[in-house]
Parts: sequence; structure tokens; C-alpha cells
Amino acid sequence: MDLRSLTPASPEAGHILWLWNAAMWVCGGIMAVVTAALIYNVIRFRSRGGADPPQNTGNKTLEIAWTVVPLLLVGFLFGVSVSTTAAIYNRPQTTPDVIVTGHQWWWEIHYPGVNAYAANELHIPARRDILVDVESADVIHDFWAPRLGPKMDAIPGRRNLTWIRADSPGDYQGFCAEFCGAEHAWMLFHVIAQTKSDYDAWLAQQAQPAFQPATGDAARGAIRFRQLTCANCHNIKGTNPQNQFAPDLTHVASRKMLAGGRVENTPDKLRDWLREPNIVKPGCEMPNLHLSDQDLTTLTAYLESLK
Ligand code: CUA
Repeated sequence: MDLRSLTPASPEAGHILWLWNAAMWVCGGIMAVVTAALIYNVIRFRSRGGADPPQNTGNKTLEIAWTVVPLLLVGFLFGVSVSTTAAIYNRPQTTPDVIVTGHQWWWEIHYPGVNAYAANELHIPARRDILVDVESADVIHDFWAPRLGPKMDAIPGRRNLTWIRADSPGDYQGFCAEFCGAEHAWMLFHVIAQTKSDYDAWLAQQAQPAFQPATGDAARGAIRFRQLTCANCHNIKGTNPQNQFAPDLTHVASRKMLAGGRVENTPDKLRDWLREPNIVKPGCEMPNLHLSDQDLTTLTAYLESLK
């Protein structure tokens, strides 16, 4: 699937594209008319050292025309904006299916129904309208999955509700669409639309407490995770208290990407990320803990066991 595509994959995104095209053609038409008139007048009335051209004041027809025509155009844009907003937002449901919180620079995904937390990967059932509560933990971000629905700002202290939908299962790219600091460009997310049964299975699995390895590097990594400062910021359900300052790692190994979409989630990349977070993603909030090779090995083994 082409993640750069902007082709609408839902009626909501279709409405937005239609509105964008309507505004584009109206504004493009205005620009063409104004530019043509400007060029004509610059050439036709350029100074040849003579007197000014005749001045036309108080022309009733002109006055009416340049009042009525812009009024109609603005009225049209107002009308299509209102009807698009109504088509997307006029629905009875007010309880969100999922709460998405923007952080510098990653997305927290919370499913309140089962109290499961994910990061940078929003799973939804296909062919169903999903009500998303968009919030922010720090500065203004903007939640945008172009193929699935409208943009929605994530404002500190506010709950903004928006709708998304995917008409067929697939992987859809999402972005932060509001400049929010150094790593704004690496604040990506994936919307994974699944069949109802796949989605239910994924959600049930995400709601489970974390796997607790009993032997080997993974078990040693679990101990080191609690001894080092990792647990001060990251939650792993079943092992330490709720803490959503940094991404919940309960099922980190089930995710496709790390660091807000900066790198793929492979053991090698994870190890690089743990070793020097600021090389992988300059400016990120994850500190360099100067981990020993042994810590890197055991922590990577532990985190990759958290399916
Ligand atoms: Cu968050 Cu830009």
C-alpha cells in the first residue's frame, strides 16, 4: 500500500477532498481573473508621458457587480463548509471509541473500553465510523490521517472530537499537521484498519498484562528495566504503576515502528535507539542512559519479548 497516497478511503475524507477542490477552483478562478485584469491594465494604460486615463467614479452597475459577485462566492464557500462539517460531525454518538493524545513527539493511543494503551499505531475496525477524542499532553499538535478523515487540533486542556473511517482494511499513514517543535516531522502514526474479528483479537491481546519472561536475557532485561530509570517514564502493565509520560511498552514488540515512526521496530534498531536515542531522533525526550553492552542485550531481548 502506498503510504503517500491522498486518495480518500472513507466518505469523511471524500467530503474533505470535495471541499478542498471547491475552494481551490473558486480561489483559482479569482486569481486568474485578477491577474488577467492586472496584466491588461499594466500594458494598456502604461505611461507614455500623456495625461491620466479617464477616471470612472460613481458607476452604479460596477458598484453593484463588485459587491454582489464576492458576496455570492463567499456565500458559496460558507455554504459548502457548513454542509461538509454537518456531513462529518452531525451524529448522535458522543462517547469516544479511542483517545489519542499528542506528546512531543509521539502519539498515545488509549482504548478506554478495555483500558489498553498503544503508541503511534491506531487500530480500528474497517467499515465503521470511529469517534476519536484528540488531546495534547504538552503543546498544540494536529491529528491527521488524510485518507480517512479531517484534521483535528490537539490542544492542551481540551477534548476535541473527530471522526475517522476506513472503508477497507489496510495500513494508512497519519501525521502531526501542526508544527510542534524540533521533531515535528517524526511524529507519524499508522492507522491499521482491520476486519472486525482481527480487530477484536488485537484489542483483547493489547488489554492483557505484559508477558513476564522467566529465563534468559529477557528475564534479566526485565529486572534491569526496573532497576534502571526506564520505569519512571514507561509503563509496562502488570510490572509497575500507571505512567503515561512516555509510550506504554506493555506490547511494544507488537508495533511496526519505534520513536514516532522514525525507525522500524527490529531488534537492531531497538538496540540503536536504546544506545543513543538522540542519534536516532535528535532532540527527543528519551535520555541516553549510557547502557553497557550487556544491558543493551538484555533490555532488547526483554522489550522484543513483549508481544
Ligand atoms: Cu506534533 Cu507537530
